[in-house]
Amino acid sequence: AFIVTDNCIRCKYTDCVEVCPVDCFYEGPNFLAINPDECIDCALCEPECPANAIFSEDELPEDQEVFVELNQELSLVWPNITERKDPLADAAKWDGVEDKLEHLER
Ligand code: SF4
Ligand code: F3S
Repeated sequence: AFIVTDNCIRCKYTDCVEVCPVDCFYEGPNFLAINPDECIDCALCEPECPANAIFSEDELPEDQEVFVELNQELSLVWPNITERKDPLADAAKWDGVEDKLEHLER
């Protein structure tokens, strides 16, 4: 599956959801999660993310491994999102800030 990682937090650009052929993105307050059981590994979302926050599980940076379980867990409790919306207000400011996990809202 593809995994949404740290740099999505507090940005949430949502460009990714528009291209997903199986609509497997789920939306929290300041992060999106991919349901790994629904993702068909088409790779279309990866280049769409302005924050470069989406990785194939096979190419996941070592320090992002916690997000494998987080995508699984959160995609089961958050609502589905299929249409792009405005990024969060301070998205540009938070894009590239490291280790935003402490800011993840559930
Ligand atoms: Fe959706 Fe394809 Fe991205 Fe998986 S890889 S989340 S199926 S767009
Ligand atoms: Fe997040 Fe990138 Fe999608 S910032 S909402 S994974 S476009």
